[in-house]
Amino acid sequence: DLGSEAEQDLKDKHVLITAGPTIEAIDPMRYITNHSSGKMGYAIAKDAVSRGAKVILVSGVTQLECPEGVERVNVKSARDMYEAVHQHFEWADVVIKTAAVADYRSKAISEHKIKKDNSHLTLELVPNPDILQSLGEKKTHQVLVGFAAETQNVLEYAKEKITKKHLDFIVANNIAEDGAGFKGDTNIATIIESSGAVTAYEQMSKLQLGHVILDKVKAYL
Ligand code: CTP
Ligand code: CA
Repeated sequence: DLGSEAEQDLKDKHVLITAGPTIEAIDPMRYITNHSSGKMGYAIAKDAVSRGAKVILVSGVTQLECPEGVERVNVKSARDMYEAVHQHFEWADVVIKTAAVADYRSKAISEHKIKKDNSHLTLELVPNPDILQSLGEKKTHQVLVGFAAETQNVLEYAKEKITKKHLDFIVANNIAEDGAGFKGDTNIATIIESSGAVTAYEQMSKLQLGHVILDKVKAYL
């Protein structure tokens, strides 16, 4: 039981979590997004609250209900998320970035619906800011946790992200594996720490994995 009987071992800790996809408008009807369901971040938020933490959940558009006791801030684009996260960064003791942030957005957002004319259409994309890296560059006391969804070279890419984004640890998973990834209720994760320590976990529910991640966070607080 992760609920009422849980130890209040994160009492009054300030936990800032991002979850879900971002969406990047192309015109009033269309946008660029990804398959993130938000389930991992919501599960961590729920577990953190049950352990006594104060939780702010910066959430992209999802179908999920906000867990009781969690303060949710709704965002759409990566740039919205950047603003919201930086607004609460000073407050936070811990930042856990499960959100699947769009790396690119359309350079132009058409005011009107783009009409077809049966020739090729080229959409020009420009890079979004890297939210986690920007936090890493200004962090003072915050524990910083990233996520890495990969389809190959999982450990190698995850280690590069720890260094580039100044993370304490990263939770990596291979989204090509059954039982891992965006839509389901389970995940198969490996935690890689800035020290180089690597711990691979069996498949478990996202709620259980949230508990494991917060146990690891505790060691860094
Ligand atoms: N992230 C972020 N802002 C971005 C892109 C990613 O904050 N613009 C965060 C994600 O929330 C995640 C971590 O960085 O916690 C890793 O995201 P990922 O997409 O795996 O890494 P990228 O650095 O974007 O590299 P790539 O997509 O090329 O693998
Ligand atoms: Ca990315």
